[in-house]
Amino acid sequence: MQAKELRKKYIEFFMKHGHAEIKSAPLVPDNDPTVLFTTAGMHPLVPYLLGEKHPLGRRLTNYQKCIRTGDIDEVGDPVHLTFFEMLGNWSLGDYFKKEAINFSFEFLTGKDWLNIPLSMLAVTVFAGDEDAPFDEEAYNIWLGLGVAPSRIAKCPKKDNWWGPAGQTGPCGPDTEMFYWTGGGTAPETFDPSDRRWVEIWNDVFMQYNKTAEGKFEPLAQTNVDTGMGVERVTAILQGKKSCYDTEIFKPLFDKFDELRNISAPAERSSAERIIVEHMRASTFIMADGITPGNVDQAYVLRRLIRRAIRQAKKAGYDGKFTAIMGQVVIDQYSDVYPELAKNKDIIIDEFNREEELFAHTLEKGTKEVEKLIARVPAHVQNKIISGKNAFFLYETYGFPIELTEEMAAEHGFKVDKAGFEEAYQKHQELSRKGAEQKFKGGLADHSENTAELHTATHLLHAALRKTLGTHVEQKGSNITADRLRFDFCHPDKMSQEQIDTVEKLVNEVIQKDFQITCEEVPLEEAKQSGAIGLFGDRYGEKVKVYTIGDFSKEICGGPHAPNTGKLKKFKILKEESSSRGVRRIKAVLEK
Ligand code: ALA
Repeated sequence: MQAKELRKKYIEFFMKHGHAEIKSAPLVPDNDPTVLFTTAGMHPLVPYLLGEKHPLGRRLTNYQKCIRTGDIDEVGDPVHLTFFEMLGNWSLGDYFKKEAINFSFEFLTGKDWLNIPLSMLAVTVFAGDEDAPFDEEAYNIWLGLGVAPSRIAKCPKKDNWWGPAGQTGPCGPDTEMFYWTGGGTAPETFDPSDRRWVEIWNDVFMQYNKTAEGKFEPLAQTNVDTGMGVERVTAILQGKKSCYDTEIFKPLFDKFDELRNISAPAERSSAERIIVEHMRASTFIMADGITPGNVDQAYVLRRLIRRAIRQAKKAGYDGKFTAIMGQVVIDQYSDVYPELAKNKDIIIDEFNREEELFAHTLEKGTKEVEKLIARVPAHVQNKIISGKNAFFLYETYGFPIELTEEMAAEHGFKVDKAGFEEAYQKHQELSRKGAEQKFKGGLADHSENTAELHTATHLLHAALRKTLGTHVEQKGSNITADRLRFDFCHPDKMSQEQIDTVEKLVNEVIQKDFQITCEEVPLEEAKQSGAIGLFGDRYGEKVKVYTIGDFSKEICGGPHAPNTGKLKKFKILKEESSSRGVRRIKAVLEK
């Protein structure tokens, strides 16, 4: 079975069981400052998992684009990916463990569905600890379905607990399903640490809300959140050891072979895998409006592209290729993810630009390395480039350490790798602290401050459109309890006068004390009424529209302040560039 059919069957199965299909949300969360990327299908659903009513009901299903960067250095082996698609089904306070497990069982083993023999499957359930008890209910449901006790493992929180996606939010015990990939008959007794058992599906039972203090409070409504990785399951269903051996990556490998003018090798190298993986991930990230840059998502994107370019050199290819590979991704996926075709020109442009920029960087960095080398007299025995210098090259020129090492070796030099690592760790530690600081609080907590800043964000968006023009569109939003951050498209730096006008407009609306009203209407009606909003037709039929007097009308999931008079004085702290053509405003409501 190919990925396309797997996607189709999954959605069909859950629709048959009363689920509404929702569209894949963008890779960049609109209103969740706790993470940079959407890491799971549940992510965009957090408000609904916390009890807000979803316009499409209480049973949902979809395929969702996800990025997880935690394993970026592992990419290159046969299993790791940064970008992947996740199939999911959700119960928002509707069914719970029994139905969820029954659905999973039927989809995996049913003759009309994946038709996997039960003898190839095993499961884990949560063993229990001080936060929550052993999941006996899940255990007994599996037994009742005919799974042998020796194929049900009880595991601790590190294995059988999921969430929250950020630092706080919905979470709970899970039950995971595994498939035997070791060939022959699967062992009688399931050992989850045996890597030949591969996890294929995760059913999370969201019963708790993790608070900022690290407490697990029971959720008002119990939910189900499940996730199945498309790439991994496709490989398994095809009896392939790696998702890189399936049709999913073939067009990209083929194109790269064509560029190098070689025929397909018997086995793919780690460099080749990194290239196709990072090209796919980068193309999808750019389709969601991110362009390469030096902060947050833009930096991750830059890193993916540059790493791919480096690897191409390693694989013996010096020519340009990123835009060509990007086009392959666009052609392959646009029927399922139309945003790729829609943003094709930007994607191609940005690939070309970044590739040129990096070529420039490489050139500059190379000169710097040569200077360092020239400084050491020929007679010196132990020729070393210090860790500090290597880190400087890395940080200032984006010059990869491997490259410094390679060049150093050509001149009989060594690089103080330990010193480099030390400088690097120190830097990481600093940025991690920065990130923690930055992501504290957040819209997911629904606090009053956050809701008020969210309302202020709508006012800011409307005021920007009135001041700068209707080309202004939201590119990103990041709201904590202390401040808002808003990215929007606009080609130029704002003048002080424009900033003052925007502030004034927002403060006037605050003073007018408008009620904030919310209504649920069909998407088409919302669009016709002039509502702006990022959510596109993601929610299908009905959307929520928040209206603030005659000033702002926006499609949005909430929450908001009840009236603008609750907001304190609005102040713009900073207006800066975020990436090309995108400006960033940081603002607060004065305390
Ligand atoms: N959110 C769960 C996961 O990502 C289903 O595994």
